[in-house]
Amino acid sequence: MKKKIAVLPGDGIGPEIIAQAVAVLDAVAEKYGHQFTYEYARIGACAIDSCGDPYPQETHEKCMNCDAILFGSIGDPKYDNDPSAKVRPEQGLLRMRKNLGLYANIRPVKPYDTLLDASPLKNDRVAGSDFIVVRELTGGIYFGEPRGRDESGDKAFDSCVYSKEEIERVSHIAFQYALRRRKKVTLVDKANVLATSRLWRETVKHIHQSCYPQVSLDFMFVDNAAMKMVSNPKDFDVILTENMFGDILSDISGVINGSIGLLPSASFGRDRSLFEPIHGSYPQAAGKDIANPIATILSAAMMLEDAFGLLQEAQAVKDACAKAIADGICTEDIVPGSRYGTVATGQYIIDMIKA
Ligand code: IPM
Ligand code: MN
Repeated sequence: MKKKIAVLPGDGIGPEIIAQAVAVLDAVAEKYGHQFTYEYARIGACAIDSCGDPYPQETHEKCMNCDAILFGSIGDPKYDNDPSAKVRPEQGLLRMRKNLGLYANIRPVKPYDTLLDASPLKNDRVAGSDFIVVRELTGGIYFGEPRGRDESGDKAFDSCVYSKEEIERVSHIAFQYALRRRKKVTLVDKANVLATSRLWRETVKHIHQSCYPQVSLDFMFVDNAAMKMVSNPKDFDVILTENMFGDILSDISGVINGSIGLLPSASFGRDRSLFEPIHGSYPQAAGKDIANPIATILSAAMMLEDAFGLLQEAQAVKDACAKAIADGICTEDIVPGSRYGTVATGQYIIDMIKA
């Protein structure tokens, strides 16, 4: 199979973890007789530094001209600590999601049995958890208008806006995942307070009744869901939720898994699919060879499976990651004091794939 992949390393640890994921894709290509070519492009702070735009047109065109997109991370403390910055790295990520129509973000969570002690939660709570967060990715308070400051500058506002159509399309994706899993969708919202959440409930109920009666649907307020995710994560199968709640809840899932450095994601929508780790750019670790590459390598596995239909290859990558974790060949986030860094962990995974 021949595929062209847009590779967007981004900022912070992005380039290091992406290098390992690309090396893994090369190993897969070699072993299984595929041809993957890569188009590198800039996004985030590094793009602002070089051309003033966090998502240059050239990057968008490269994404559109490829079969799938592999993305690292963006963000830089020099912008985090400067609220007056007019252009911010995150705008690049948000514009990319919006311009590529990536409205559904899938974040799977399934702790490794060999890693239960890495979670600060009790083993018996965590063992056997297996759920996915389906996060709406191009609407809600991240994008709603109006937003900004009033004339005095002393008041700021963000708008949370959702249309029925935006809710419907991501809901179908959630129900379709549920059909292939334990057939349970939990809609997480704040319908006791927010008008948008009430539209979500109404719309999701309707889709459920008319298209997916064989799936069970329940509703949970987001504050309660945050508590249930750490006290009873096993109760969840598919969590369907809006953009901001999905962002927050999916970081909690890093606690269940033992490290946010293990969690991949896939984004689907109108034009192309994009694969990225759920963690950020971790600038404190940049250049130190300590960042866990597994979340990005597993994102590449999701690309093989979901974008290219290469199930066996994806499984080989997932098995190799599980082996590295079981053998304790991993970065210090899950193996305290580890002598294996980003590169050595990636190399071990590659060796397992080639073996
Ligand atoms: C994520 C990240 C982004 C988000 C940031 C970097 C804008 O936290 O993908 O979860 O909030 O969506
Ligand atoms: Mn996040």
